[in-house]
Amino acid sequence: MYTLGIDIGGTKIAGAVCDENDKVLSQWRVPTPTDPDEINDCILEIYNEALRLHSDIPTMGISAAGNVKADRRTMSFSANIAKWIDYPLADRIEELTDHKCKVVVENDANCAGWGEYILGAGRGSRNMVMLTVGTGLGGAIIINGELYRGSFGMAAELGHLPMVSDGDFCGCGLRGCAERYTSGNALEHFARSGIRRMPQKGKRLLELCGGDVNTLEGKMVSQAAQEGDELALYAFGKIGEWLGRTMAAIAAVIDPDLFVIGGGVVSVGDILLDPARYNYTRFLQAAAYREHAKILPATAGGDAGMIGAADLARREA
Ligand code: BGC
Ligand code: NA
Ligand code: ZN
Repeated sequence: MYTLGIDIGGTKIAGAVCDENDKVLSQWRVPTPTDPDEINDCILEIYNEALRLHSDIPTMGISAAGNVKADRRTMSFSANIAKWIDYPLADRIEELTDHKCKVVVENDANCAGWGEYILGAGRGSRNMVMLTVGTGLGGAIIINGELYRGSFGMAAELGHLPMVSDGDFCGCGLRGCAERYTSGNALEHFARSGIRRMPQKGKRLLELCGGDVNTLEGKMVSQAAQEGDELALYAFGKIGEWLGRTMAAIAAVIDPDLFVIGGGVVSVGDILLDPARYNYTRFLQAAAYREHAKILPATAGGDAGMIGAADLARREA
């Protein structure tokens, strides 16, 4: 039996047909539209292509950024990609497939975390936490080999741990959430404010963004940091510090054996992970008197989310 995994990302919608062993048989990629109806049409197109190649696709798993209800069909709230509020995503897609395909919706970071657990850095872990450092900060919690969803489906929204009183405004409507201080957006923010305060030190970054700080992107900061640029390293030091602090807060609740760090920003490796590890130990309670979780980069690659979505949907169906 084949399952279609769909990953609705900020820039692209990716789809993959997977077999029972999570092997990808075919895949597609299209740019993400902003309108929810257009997103649904893109998913239908991928589904139709998949049907043409594989003739029967009874199950589809969709990975989406935002809060998914316990029914795993409805988006309660989403701020980053589509503005889904109480949106019946699974119903809509099932209607479009003439009810020939059963749809299961799952939070994007939960899918990525599950993907890492079954095929990546998380293999063999018992209690694992994944943090996806992308546009926002996503989280997944796996306890005793099972994805932990909480009582109402809302567990592992780790990017919205309230870290700073009266802090920066978050897309979720609150202030001071972890993702304001550790994410791709936060990296750009720290780099921009650094350039404004210390223009001399910002020379390389300004060069990379063509002189306009507002067009500075995370990947430019990554490039400069890999060249050894002081200001770019400072920005990574800041998000790394906040990442470490956030993990220490999570460890106080979960006590995991492993943190897996994913998302585009982690491509710089130890430039991010060194300050994260240092500050994790610094803020970890009873640090000298306990065993410490490993902190590893994700290894399953960019397809982990859609493979995770397909695998979770197959288990549900
Ligand atoms: C959203 C999460 C999502 C994460 C990563 C956060 O802002 O609240 O639902 O998993 O971004 O996309
Ligand atoms: Na999550
Ligand atoms: Zn928030």
